[in-house]
Amino acid sequence: MVPFLTAENVLAAVSPERAVEAVRDGFVAYARGEWAMPPKIYVPAYPNGDFRAMPAIGAGHAVLKWVTSFPVNLEKGLPTVKAIVLVSDAETGMPVAVLEGSALTALRTGAAAVLAAETLARPEAGAAAVIGTGVNGRATARTFIARGREVILWDVDPERARTAAEELGASVAASREQALSADIVATVTPGREPLFAENSLLPGQHVSLMGADGPGKCEIAPRELARTHVFCDDWTQASHAGELQHLVPENLIAREQVTQLGDVLANFAPGRRSAEEITTFDSTGLAIQDLALALAVLERVGELEGALELPLW
Ligand SMILES: NC(=O)c1ccc[n+]([C@@H]2O[C@H](COP(=O)([O-])OP(=O)(O)OC[C@H]3O[C@@H](n4cnc5c(N)ncnc54)[C@H](O)[C@@H]3O)[C@@H](O)[C@H]2O)c1
Repeated sequence: MVPFLTAENVLAAVSPERAVEAVRDGFVAYARGEWAMPPKIYVPAYPNGDFRAMPAIGAGHAVLKWVTSFPVNLEKGLPTVKAIVLVSDAETGMPVAVLEGSALTALRTGAAAVLAAETLARPEAGAAAVIGTGVNGRATARTFIARGREVILWDVDPERARTAAEELGASVAASREQALSADIVATVTPGREPLFAENSLLPGQHVSLMGADGPGKCEIAPRELARTHVFCDDWTQASHAGELQHLVPENLIAREQVTQLGDVLANFAPGRRSAEEITTFDSTGLAIQDLALALAVLERVGELEGALELPLW
């Protein structure tokens, strides 16, 4: 029998706080070379969006996430991101579980944005602004709030920001400028145009850039990113499909100027160097984050009420 777990099961199994712990463990295991992650495969279906196949292996399990990013879906009332995660036993190859992957993606994306902020922001940093209050922006805001941080929200669609603020117990920023100048900013937009123009970032700010996770996307002007202390989730992915894709071909940044977040978490590399420094985190979303979350869900699978099990063979 193979468990088929719904979004509701996933959310019941893993709290935002547990997701932060799980994602931290995943980044550290990957930095230590204990977990492996072949490059994400993009299957273009432009102009509407793309599919991604994301495999990873570690802790006795292998996962494959089949996930979409279809930003135009918003206009059709359909989700931008939909996903399914297959989990197998890495010793026998036997299937272990099938998980609804959109809730899992939102949990691990919020966790990565918050983990990067908590690792790289100034210790005395105040409120976090979350820009873009769709599925993954709301998950990011929910995770900041679960970790005890005040959150302000901004969205190009004011009604979406207002609804999200009511749902989460956050407030709506008075203006886009107020949100962009918060001590901590997490951007979770479709990445169609830069939110941060050249010379707009303030000394000491931290920005988790979550939205640009595919070819052509960006949330910050390349020269503005180049003047910050840049961290990323994974160099190979980020330099091909994250914000860094726009800097590398122009020689605006070199590999040795960019630190992977896992290396900071595993104490292999320093994080922020001074209170004035501006830190940025270029996130493209890693399969090891999905593996970390899948393992956290499986820890609780026996306790989940109403979880479906199917005899696959
Ligand atoms: N880095 C990662 O791990 C990761 C994971 C999941 C999704 N993503 C990416 O994050 C982005 C958002 O995903 P989602 O599922 O939350 O999308 P969504 O469609 O649910 O929400 C996007 C939100 O951004 C708002 N928005 C659009 N343009 C804006 C702008 N210029 N300023 C402010 N708000 C704006 C929209 O009104 C909407 O509320 C996508 O590009 C997606 O591919 C990244």
